[in-house]
Amino acid sequence: MKSTANLPTEPTTVEQRSVVETSQLTKVYRTGFWMNQKIASLKNCSLRVHQGETFGLLGPNGAGKTTLLKLLLSIVRPTSGRGLLLGKPLGDRATKQKIGYLPENAYFYDYLTGWEFLQFTAGLFQIPTEMQRQRIPLLLELVGLSQSAAKNKQLRQYSKGMLQRIGVAQAIINDPEVVFLDEPMSGLDPMGRYQIREIILSLQAQGKTIFFNSHILSDVEKICDRIAILNAGELLCIGSLDELLGTENISLEEFFMQQVGN
Ligand SMILES: Nc1ncnc2c1ncn2[C@@H]1O[C@H](COP(=O)(O)OP(=O)(O)OP(=O)(O)O)[C@@H](O)[C@H]1O
Ligand SMILES: [Mg+2]
Repeated sequence: MKSTANLPTEPTTVEQRSVVETSQLTKVYRTGFWMNQKIASLKNCSLRVHQGETFGLLGPNGAGKTTLLKLLLSIVRPTSGRGLLLGKPLGDRATKQKIGYLPENAYFYDYLTGWEFLQFTAGLFQIPTEMQRQRIPLLLELVGLSQSAAKNKQLRQYSKGMLQRIGVAQAIINDPEVVFLDEPMSGLDPMGRYQIREIILSLQAQGKTIFFNSHILSDVEKICDRIAILNAGELLCIGSLDELLGTENISLEEFFMQQVGN
């Protein structure tokens, strides 16, 4: 088992229990024919996300947001540094049962209906058929998809907004404690973005911890308890909007521009 000695100490209050903790987490990709080119996608990232909060990770294209998410989910391995997810080292098998994930530009199975896709995902979590029958309609209602569309249309016939909804539904099929959403509002029209925001708010109301990547500042402003800004793999700041903007009297957009230096 990996040592966790260098991680920040546990907070004392229940509300402040950390769901995500990283310490000096670093990812250097190797590319090129000889694998001799290095891309430092994440550099010494140390942060915490508390239980029950909605946490927004901001940053321009290529900042390292998806890389951080993939590290937390053990889709890629860190080059150095450590992390804990629900108190367990990254990659812990039992923890995977307690998390949900909507990937960026998710690829879904074109020839399955939405309903079949949710059944397939539920099967991966070994959710019994009887429970699936109860849970899938509830999820469809939560994400605003009709049962007839879910049962009769194949995913290749879904609009971008419908795919995002089914994507969110599959991310929470196992009733996870923590939900990771990579750009859940990207490519959606204002109504679609509003609806995804509403879904996130309802997950928030259920006490879920939500970690999402975005570069849509207005969405983040509306729903996040705390945010962090990444730029070129470096964590520039972390805190609540009040903490970050409070004394400055500027908008999140202005603050963001100042931080990333454009
Ligand atoms: N598999 C990979 N191999 C090599 N380089 C990669 C790989 N994945 C990401 N990168 C590089 O790592 C850096 C960070 O990419 P990442 O996808 O994490 O950024 P991002 O903040 O999610 O960007 P976006 O907002 O465009 O989604 C980029 O320079 C990217 O080219
Ligand atoms: Mg990304």
